[in-house]
Amino acid sequence: MGQTVLVLGTGGTIAGVGDGPDALRYAAAQLSVEQLVAAVPALSDFILDVQQVAQVDSKDMDWAVWQVLARALREGLARDDVAGVVITHGTDTLEETAYLLHRLVDVAKPVVLTAAMRPATSAQADGPRNLLDAVRLVNEAARTGVHGVCAVMAGRVWSARAVRKAHSWHIDDAFDGGGQDPLALMGHDGPLGSLAAWPQACGAGWSVLLDHAQPRVDIVVSHAGADGRLLDAALRSPDTMPNGIVVACTGHGTVHHQLEQVLFHAERLGVQVWRSTRVARGGVQRRDGDIWPAAGDVTVAQARVALMLELLGVPAED
Ligand code: SIN
Repeated sequence: MGQTVLVLGTGGTIAGVGDGPDALRYAAAQLSVEQLVAAVPALSDFILDVQQVAQVDSKDMDWAVWQVLARALREGLARDDVAGVVITHGTDTLEETAYLLHRLVDVAKPVVLTAAMRPATSAQADGPRNLLDAVRLVNEAARTGVHGVCAVMAGRVWSARAVRKAHSWHIDDAFDGGGQDPLALMGHDGPLGSLAAWPQACGAGWSVLLDHAQPRVDIVVSHAGADGRLLDAALRSPDTMPNGIVVACTGHGTVHHQLEQVLFHAERLGVQVWRSTRVARGGVQRRDGDIWPAAGDVTVAQARVALMLELLGVPAED
């Protein structure tokens, strides 16, 4: 026992239901977070406050759901009795929500996201273990004064700014850190070793999300024959003109020469252009003389979140 762990449910496969024990076909976001907690007897060792804040397949995650989550987090993290927060989420956009929260959380308490690769009805269901690990992790982090935003999946704890989905259907290696090691491993009854390497959240606060409309940032992929025709069409009308573009570049930040011309045109029209990469590890590191800013080692989808925050005036991470 200890202080309260707040568990916020947002949906995902962890709350999914299939039509048979091993069904590959299932619907995500069906069971309540109360049902998920009730299915894990060992969670009765903890003081939990359980709240359903959304019920979405995370492929449909958007600014509005993030705002609902932000309100619940702002309120929950401000409570003296709450030691930290677990968020159950879909795997598909977990890396985006995790990164966003890493930038915004402004209270020195642990926030841990978790998810599952199999629905709750599957004989291979991984949600119960992940949920138990997440609660144990928050409890231990709070007990030892460690804070920041992390994700735990399959017994590995990932930094929110490194975590990414790395396999579309495996259970054990569905997530990785894009070349960074896990921050910690989970043992039978809690994290093994020190949690001291947790990244501190950046602390930008909730108003950036709650008090602003979403800037429009699109992702454009560079590839063989990428001529930028779709982007060129989007630039012709204020209704489709983005505020920013993240390019999923080839290699270490290179762009097809035809797409590059369209991006120069976009920039002349006031669109902010950033470079990320299609490549799984390494990111795009900043170098003198870059034509467009490099997003660093976050994923393309996380770079899109970072550019939205930049457009809203949030100072860049150090
Ligand atoms: C989702 O992201 O909500 C569905 C897929 C999953 O959780 O694995």
